[in-house]
Amino acid sequence: MTPPKRDFLQIRGLSRDRLQELIEATLRHRALMSAAEDPEHNWDWTAAPRPLAGKIIANCFLEDSTRTRCSFEVAAQRLGATTINLTASGSSTSKGESLADTARTLAAMGVDAIVVRTAASGGAMLVADTVDCPVINAGDGRHEHPTQAILDMAVLSEWFGGIEQLVGKTVCIVGDIANSRVARSATHALTTLGADVRLVGPPTLVPPSLAHLTQRHGTVEVHHHLDAALDGADAIIMLRLQLERAAGGAVANDYRTHFGLTPHRFSNLPATTPILHPGPMNRGVEIDNTAADHATQSFVTEQVGMGVAARMAVLMNLLNPSRLSCWESLTQAVR
Ligand code: CP
Repeated sequence: MTPPKRDFLQIRGLSRDRLQELIEATLRHRALMSAAEDPEHNWDWTAAPRPLAGKIIANCFLEDSTRTRCSFEVAAQRLGATTINLTASGSSTSKGESLADTARTLAAMGVDAIVVRTAASGGAMLVADTVDCPVINAGDGRHEHPTQAILDMAVLSEWFGGIEQLVGKTVCIVGDIANSRVARSATHALTTLGADVRLVGPPTLVPPSLAHLTQRHGTVEVHHHLDAALDGADAIIMLRLQLERAAGGAVANDYRTHFGLTPHRFSNLPATTPILHPGPMNRGVEIDNTAADHATQSFVTEQVGMGVAARMAVLMNLLNPSRLSCWESLTQAVR
């Protein structure tokens, strides 16, 4: 019997074991990347196996992206796969071709996986229902951004000294929660791993109904006062105001005063509190340079590096699980 198709569409409903497996694989790939950058290690990518050699991955990005699109491409190439890239402006979607027809067209060419970003919430699931090859959600509307959650959990796990250390931690997610797929995926992941989440922002962007996002272990609270919410927080994820999703109309001019990570607020935080932001950042709106560029507390750049590792982990998991042991033994050796 043919095994069921494997996709990676959302964190919601993912078991703790599968989440942990992907985070651990991400950390191993990150260690491999660090080893390649470290002159002390006599190792580089030319010595690496190519476990996805011969595979073709279609990056179908119908909404703009820098980090996710490029990191999927780097990840695929490090693993030996080749990529094709489709964006809205250079493809027949600009002539009105539907997402499903675009996916069918790519699948008919025999690609081995489709990575999809779309403004349509639920669009990745639509693609997965349309084609037979594995589909990875690279962000669909306000729904989910699951690989972002994997990389964020890996960053936090590394900082706190292990995935199990997230149990009982309090993480503030601040900003445009209502429009944020990052917030949804992160909340599902954090609560699955046993962390408690505070969703913080103005009532227009953080409706009370979002308190029901909790998944199994951790709790979710809605807060409308940032200074109170930051009290006792172990980590902070700042979010971008998503002006393209019309959030701007609902946001007061004094957003920064009430919900921005200003130098004053940042100076009141413990020196061990990590600051994450998925990017791109609106500097001077939700986050000021003092926090965004801080040498020890800003994890923005580390998130980007971890993003490549997370996408390597997900691609390997979906496309070559049978070769995992060979690849994993190599990454464990480097670690
Ligand atoms: N974090 C994130 O999704 O960034 P991009 O929109 O640049 O991919």
